[in-house]
Amino acid sequence: MSTSIEPESSRLGTKQHWDDVYERELQNFDDDGDEGEVWFGEDSVEKMIQWAEEHVPTAQGANILEIGSGNGTLLFGLVDAQYDPKHLAGIDYSAGAVKLARNVSQARDAQDVTFNECDFLNDDPAVLPHMGDTRTACWDVLMDKGTYDAIALGEKDAEGRSPAWLYPRRAARLLKEDGLFLITSCNFTEDELKTSFVTADTGFEYHSRIQHRTFSFGGSSGSVVSSVAFKKTVQH
Ligand SMILES: C[S@@+](CC[C@H](N)C(=O)[O-])C[C@H]1O[C@@H](n2cnc3c(N)ncnc32)[C@H](O)[C@@H]1O
Repeated sequence: MSTSIEPESSRLGTKQHWDDVYERELQNFDDDGDEGEVWFGEDSVEKMIQWAEEHVPTAQGANILEIGSGNGTLLFGLVDAQYDPKHLAGIDYSAGAVKLARNVSQARDAQDVTFNECDFLNDDPAVLPHMGDTRTACWDVLMDKGTYDAIALGEKDAEGRSPAWLYPRRAARLLKEDGLFLITSCNFTEDELKTSFVTADTGFEYHSRIQHRTFSFGGSSGSVVSSVAFKKTVQH
């Protein structure tokens, strides 16, 4: 099944693009300590952290994985909000992103956050030391800010599907039963995200949403970004 509305493929959907981005960002960080781009702005980071505080209080000690963690901004925001860094992990398929996030973690004295190189569509991420050996059905929370969007811009297959069609099942595979998946997207509306993620294949059901700033144009209104959370209801 393909996702509801498929954007055209673009360079933003290639690993080469992200490797180039992080090569530049690593250089900037070395030159003047600039941590790099905050995708969708500080406001979206704050709202995702507020969502976490409401639905996954720090006292729960949840194991949280960010898919496509880039420079690690979201995870460092969770550290600032008192989430235990030993329970926070980020994966990214660009080695430069992982290096940048690790460099930033040292500068921020947040070295206990784990960053690993991993292609989310093809490999099960390494788990944290206290999580045991099983790499599937093991995370309490998954977060994504902009990664599903990037993957949806990847090259289409012979059936005209972007690689994003693989994503919902990959996410469901990693989550524990009752685990939560929060996604923030600039390319897909809430309804499109629901259509792609709430399927018999994933066992996801709608859980909650984040209200973002809205704009009005020509009589209709909308948000620049959408954030929706899903709960995994059945084990696959
Ligand atoms: C728009 S950036 C967002 C980065 C980060 N989430 C943030 O908000 O700052 C998309 C990220 O997804 C990563 N990415 C794209 N495809 C991936 C894949 N298949 N597996 C892991 N990471 C991927 C890119 O390297 C990039 O860091």
